Amino acid sequence: MNAGLNKLTIEDLSVQGRRTLVRVDFNVPQHEDGRVMDDRRIRGALPTIRYLIEHKAKTILVSHLGQPKGDAADRVRYTLRPVAERLSELLGIYVPLIPDCIGPQADAAIAQMQPGDVVLLENVRFHPGETANDPVFASSLAAIAELYVNDAFGTAHRAHASTEGVAHHLTSAAGFLMKKELEFLGRALDSPPDGFVAVLGGAKIKSKIGVVDNLLTKVSRLLIGGGMAYTFLQAQGKEIGQSLCDPGALEYCRNVLAVAGDRILLPSDVVIADRDPFSDNTDEVQSHIVSVDAIPHDWQGVDIGPETRARFAAVIADARIVVWNGPMGIFEISRYAEGTRAMAEALARSSALTVVGGGESAAAVEELGFADQISHVSTGGGAALEFLEGRPLPGVVALTDKPAT
Ligand code: 3PG
Repeated sequence: MNAGLNKLTIEDLSVQGRRTLVRVDFNVPQHEDGRVMDDRRIRGALPTIRYLIEHKAKTILVSHLGQPKGDAADRVRYTLRPVAERLSELLGIYVPLIPDCIGPQADAAIAQMQPGDVVLLENVRFHPGETANDPVFASSLAAIAELYVNDAFGTAHRAHASTEGVAHHLTSAAGFLMKKELEFLGRALDSPPDGFVAVLGGAKIKSKIGVVDNLLTKVSRLLIGGGMAYTFLQAQGKEIGQSLCDPGALEYCRNVLAVAGDRILLPSDVVIADRDPFSDNTDEVQSHIVSVDAIPHDWQGVDIGPETRARFAAVIADARIVVWNGPMGIFEISRYAEGTRAMAEALARSSALTVVGGGESAAAVEELGFADQISHVSTGGGAALEFLEGRPLPGVVALTDKPAT
């Protein structure tokens, strides 16, 4: 399961004086003016970068940002310049941004590098060959370096040139962040089911079906909240009003509930709102707490209720391992963030190994101030989900195998 451990890691490489291409995931949320809004992914890569500086490598960082289409406006909108500035602040050294990741400008800048230097290459997705995993582009990227380190756990589920293709040309190892992510998520998934609890939320049930299926083969309890819970409640025959529902997933939910029985815990009470909470007159939105048996047909669920929070927290308190992915309600609106806050608090208080599987729940744990009290908060969104589904991550599979001992 934990493929990362069978692969070379950064400490297996002799990096001194060598051009080391490091794939990082600096795809970070930004303010309107481009400034970095959340630098968690940049901070996550610092141990690898600092190690390479200390060991006198020539460190060439490569990342994507957003999904640029290739026009001139996107080259401005998706430049990594603000990221280079934030990285320079965090490292306390100037990290130049090289205007292209291959070609004469990259070659000239890299030729001038001294051992211990760090440069950041401009957004690798400015080349269409990146997402196409074009072999010619991958080999051009490999040609600028002598070694490859993948520290971009957040992008490890993409088989792109800088995450997968390039690894076939160079000795390739996992960085410290990649290793840590694989170890924590892998430890959770590989553990015996006794005392292993998973908490799932978020809006879209479709994106969680693979995760539900895989986790149900591993956990003792699966707690389901957030928007996805309402399709399960409807599958039980309850009136869910205007709450989120995916009719195409009802049959699936019925089957899962029949097979999993009381290993699945659903909300018993919810916070409901009388209209779309994102409507123009947000101040006028009425909300209150009801049992899941009493949701009026024109109201909608927006958070788990206090009884559910207490039931879920009690299960978490008794767990040995807890994995959480997906908010319990519309946590962007503070009065509907209580369920998500309660889960973050329950994980923070627990003595279990606690892993938050990236995306919105990781952002919530960070924003609510509980990140330091969680064993591991993943930097991966889609990558963490695919890992929890039990799917191999192409960016990990492509790394060089550890020699047999
Ligand atoms: C992410 O934020 O999930 C990763 O950086 C991957 O980005 P992508 O979804 O644009 O490939």
